[in-house]
Order: sequence, then C-alpha cells, then structure tokens
Amino acid sequence: MKKNSNVAARPLACFGDLTVKDGRLSVGGCFASDLAKEYGTPLYVFDVERAQKTAKAYVDILKREYPDFTVCYASKAFCCAGIYEILAPLGLGADVVSGGELYTALKGGMDPSRIYFHGNNKTESEIKYAISSGVECFVVDSVRELELISAHAKKPQNVLVRVNPGVEAHTHRFIQTTTTDSKFGFSIADGTAEEIILSVSNYKNVHFVGLACHIGSQIFEKQSFEIAIDKMTDFIVRLNSLGIEVERLDLGGGFGIHYIEEDKPLTPEQYMENSARYLKTATRERNIKPPRLIVEPGRSIVGEAGITLYTVGAIKTIKDVKTYAAVDGGMFDNPRVSLYDAQYSAVIADKADRKGECEYSIAGKCCESGDILIEGIKLPELKTGDVLAVLSTGAYHYSMASNYNRNAVPPVVAVKGGKSAYMVKPQTYEDIARNDVISMFSEDKQ
Ligand code: LLP
Repeated sequence: MKKNSNVAARPLACFGDLTVKDGRLSVGGCFASDLAKEYGTPLYVFDVERAQKTAKAYVDILKREYPDFTVCYASKAFCCAGIYEILAPLGLGADVVSGGELYTALKGGMDPSRIYFHGNNKTESEIKYAISSGVECFVVDSVRELELISAHAKKPQNVLVRVNPGVEAHTHRFIQTTTTDSKFGFSIADGTAEEIILSVSNYKNVHFVGLACHIGSQIFEKQSFEIAIDKMTDFIVRLNSLGIEVERLDLGGGFGIHYIEEDKPLTPEQYMENSARYLKTATRERNIKPPRLIVEPGRSIVGEAGITLYTVGAIKTIKDVKTYAAVDGGMFDNPRVSLYDAQYSAVIADKADRKGECEYSIAGKCCESGDILIEGIKLPELKTGDVLAVLSTGAYHYSMASNYNRNAVPPVVAVKGGKSAYMVKPQTYEDIARNDVISMFSEDKQ
C-alpha cells in the first residue's frame, strides 16, 4: 500500500472550503468535533454550499461558453434523495445507472425529463420502469437494450449510443488505443459503433439523438478530454456523411479533485471552459453543427464537499515497525483504499492547525488486515477519543459503503451556514437485519 506523503502542517491548503478556527476544523460553519459529539461517529458530513458552488460553476461557464448544454449530475458519486433537492434547482439533470438510482432521483424531486439512464446491462424491469417514469434518454450500451426499449416504448424514446473513442484516462495518464478492452460502449475504431447506429432506425420507437462517451475518472489532464472531443467530432463527420444527424454529444464526467496535496487538478471552471471552447473550435473546423453538449460530473461536484469523522479507539505500537491508530469506521464506509489504493488527507478535528510529528497507520475496524484507511500519515500525537477528519470523502464513499461485518453505514449530516441536519438517517441494527429470514423451512421439520 502506498504511503501517504502529506504532512499535516499545511493539510488544508488545498481544501479551500474547510476552515480552521483556534485549531478547530470547521465545515459549513459547524465545528467538526461538535458534529461528532451531536451525531456520533463514524459520520459523513456534507457541505451543501460547497457542492452547489461547483455545480453552479459548471452551469455558469457553459451558459457563457456553450449555451446549448445539460449538466447531468452523475448519481453514482453520491446518491441519496437530498442531493437532487440540492442540485435540481440549479438546473442540473441527473445521470442514473440503475432502477435504484432512478427511484432515488425521482424521490429527490429530479424531473425525469432531465434524467439520462446509463449502464452496460440495464435489466428489462429497469428499462420498463425508466420508460414508464418518462426518462429523457437512454444511453444505449448493447443490442439487447435496443430490443428491449423497442419492445416496451409506446412512443419514440430518445437514445444516445455509448461509443468507445479509444481514449482511456486516469489521473495524470491517458492512453489512446484502437482496441480498448472495455465492457462499456461500442468501439469506433473497429466499425461496431457505426454499424449499431445505422441499425437503430430498424427499431420501432427508438429515436437516435446522439453519442455518449466517458473516458475515465479522477482525470487531471485537459488534453485527455481534447483528444476525446477530436475523436468524437471526427466520428460525427463520418455519421453526417452517412446521413445521420448527431443532435447531442455526451462527454461523460471524470474531472479530478484533491485528495492529497500532490494532486493538482484544474478548477471545474478551467476544465469546463477548456472542453467547451475546444468543442466549439472542433465543430467549426469540421464544419459540423454544434451538438447539444451534455456533461456528467460526479466526483468533482460532491467529492471535496464531504468529510468523514471518526473517533480514534485502540492505538497500538509495534516496536520498530509502526503505530496503528484504529478508528470506528473502515472499509465499510470507505472501500476506495482497498479497491484502488486511494490516498487521503486527514486532520485531528480539534488540532487541525498542528504540525504532524508522529506517523500512523489509520486502521479500520473490519476483520481484514487490509482494512487500512491511511498508511503512514503524519499527525500530532493521537489519543483515544480524538476525532479524526478524513477529507474529500463526498464521492464514492456513502454510495459505495456496505454493511460488511454488519457494521452500520454511517449517516450523512448536511451542513450549511452553521446549521446541520440529517441528509441520510443512521442505520439501526434492526435496519441491517430487516430482510433476514429465520426458520425458513420450519414446516419441513414438522
Ligand atoms: N458518466 C459516466 C458514464 C460514468 O461512468 C461516470 C463514472 C461518470 C459520468 C462520473 O465520473 P466522475 O465525474 O465522478 O469522475 N468508484 C470509482 C469511480 C468510478 C467512476 C465510474 N464512472 C472511484 O471511487 O474512484
């Protein structure tokens, strides 16, 4: 596992919306340790205004640079009813990838006419549910899906076709290939995408409106998006030559954020301004009609708006090796470390201005030796009972949490202007065991 190289002396320098007052970490106008006391730990804290600020930044840049647009929030990053209530009034739509995300978006008040339904294997029941809910558009990822939409749609249903432009980007690196091995999309390079799009007109009630791609997540380099735009607009030229109009172009999400100080993402404004301008130029140069631009940021809207608070429990020093500080959370609330070797910054909530002089492995409480949240972080000396705040946990944490070891998924508390309230209530043991059945075959015993 990678060692975290951040040092707590300046841990908040890159987390502009977190403030420290008299050494106390404050988020959304609330002191983190007060929230821990009031709501208990582990606790996800979500800064409403921080998320709205980023969402608004995307909308404002596009209004200026590329007025025919839709910003669809990628639900997978953080899905609960409240997030739609926060983002929908700003004009955002939503990208959903399952019946569950669709249900939650509708419950949160998202207008179905602004919902795009993604996913590489939508089930028949999900397709029926989405059609009956009136979703604006399906992002089609298989022939079977075209058949199912056609079988169930009573009137023309908009679809985008997800293509694979052969650009794959992750953080600082991107690769270009012609034979990208991915379960998502149809390849442009091998002609499959063209073939599928040409076939769409054979399906009753399936109305092709454009193309979608998504080249990766936590991307720092704007060049990755530029290459994707080049490939997609080249493909639009090709489709136009076959008499096919492309009204919409969905470029997916992927804009990177800060987890540790070494991360150097662009601002949402910079990412969006660059992509919008690049697309304008690309369409002008190719003499094609500028399509409606759809973007689907997830992580960049909610990631830095979230922190997770833990209470430090057992502290164990292994002589000449390391010191473990165990917290009351772990891989059940943050599986990203074990899945992706993700790195994080953290501070002690009430000593957030102190230099880190001791090195710790922050361990989770799950029965897995790999359940380590941060390896080798420097912090002021930790004591049992300290509240530890792990930063940038708003995306792909709550949404990827589990009940492993029958730990409860932590609640989410929203903070805004010094006020706090549950956004997701705590799970009880009864909730966890709610669907458990005992004495299943008791009649057999009689
Ligand atoms: N649109 C599509 C079609 C996507 O597949 C994704 C993410 C997004 C938008 C949003 O991307 P974002 O702006 O959040 O980067 N669990 C992983 C991330 C998986 C992302 C999958 N697709 C993680 O925790 O890093």
